[in-house]
Amino acid sequence: MPSKINNVFAEEVKAGLSASPRHLSSKWFYDATGDELFQAIMAMPEYYLTDAEREVYQYCGPELLENIGDRPFDLIELGAGDGSKTRYLINDFIAAGANFTYRPIDISAHAVEELSRRVAAEWPQLDYSPLIGDYFAALNNLGEPDDDAVRLVLFPGANIGNFNQAEASGFLRHLHQFLRPGDLLLTGFDLRKDPAVILAAYNDPAGHTADFNLNLLRRINNELKADFDLQQWMHWETYDPLSGAARSYLVARADQTVAIGTLGKTFHFDAWEAISVEVSQKYSRREIEALAEKSGYTHVQHFTDDRVLFSDSLWKV
Ligand SMILES: C[S@@+](CC[C@H](N)C(=O)[O-])C[C@H]1O[C@@H](n2cnc3c(N)ncnc32)[C@H](O)[C@@H]1O
Repeated sequence: MPSKINNVFAEEVKAGLSASPRHLSSKWFYDATGDELFQAIMAMPEYYLTDAEREVYQYCGPELLENIGDRPFDLIELGAGDGSKTRYLINDFIAAGANFTYRPIDISAHAVEELSRRVAAEWPQLDYSPLIGDYFAALNNLGEPDDDAVRLVLFPGANIGNFNQAEASGFLRHLHQFLRPGDLLLTGFDLRKDPAVILAAYNDPAGHTADFNLNLLRRINNELKADFDLQQWMHWETYDPLSGAARSYLVARADQTVAIGTLGKTFHFDAWEAISVEVSQKYSRREIEALAEKSGYTHVQHFTDDRVLFSDSLWKV
């Protein structure tokens, strides 16, 4: 992992564990172990999000191309992960003879390395230019596209849900500054649905989500020389149908003091004290359209799966 990201990680851990209430960002879930544990989550029956979005990516490629027209374009993917759904779009775009460059962005160096290996094996001729880093740091390094090129930005995986609704609008307005009139944004939104279905997706009986979230403490141990005892922590999930927010917490099972060597600091946790580690915001289609308008985009179309669990919503700048 590049040391710059490591420094940011250390600073964010220090700030989050010093705050009240305590919090850590879900973007730090994804080290090599986290990437693997997330694969297990995507494969479990309760985690409907991946299958639902895959269904959408299997059919929306031609309609995206219709919106782009004949122009060359940059296909920019924010938080690409393993890019397993994006391959359907790439295959459609190649089959249609589209002129495009694939530019995935991910904060996980491991995820980008794995993705690059797969791209080289599957599409050796593809114009491909990945970036490792936080979304906006990476977007700053993208450079200007050619005058006649447009950008199609993908923001899949319901990553937008990791912001609350106000933060999401701030993020999307910031993203707008990197885009030009005519550019397109396709964002994956997990839709509001039966609360039991949502809760089960983040609270599976096999304990994959618990392992994944607890791995954040293991990562702090490994990368910041800390001594969290994982046996002393548990995963807790809630879903509030009023706000539409699913929230994940790590809860201390006992009083404890944890030393973080890299920070030269100790942190005391009272028994049953919680660290907030993830929000997964759910949206109605009406809320998505309102978010587009509030953030300066024109809503074009919702692409949903058959069961209407998930929407990839297309907006135009
Ligand atoms: C939930 S996974 C989704 C992966 C893939 N897009 C999918 O839909 O299956 C989230 C991915 O986004 C990346 N990510 C999360 N926060 C990020 C950030 N702030 N900047 C860049 N990448 C981020 C993670 O490393 C991870 O690979």
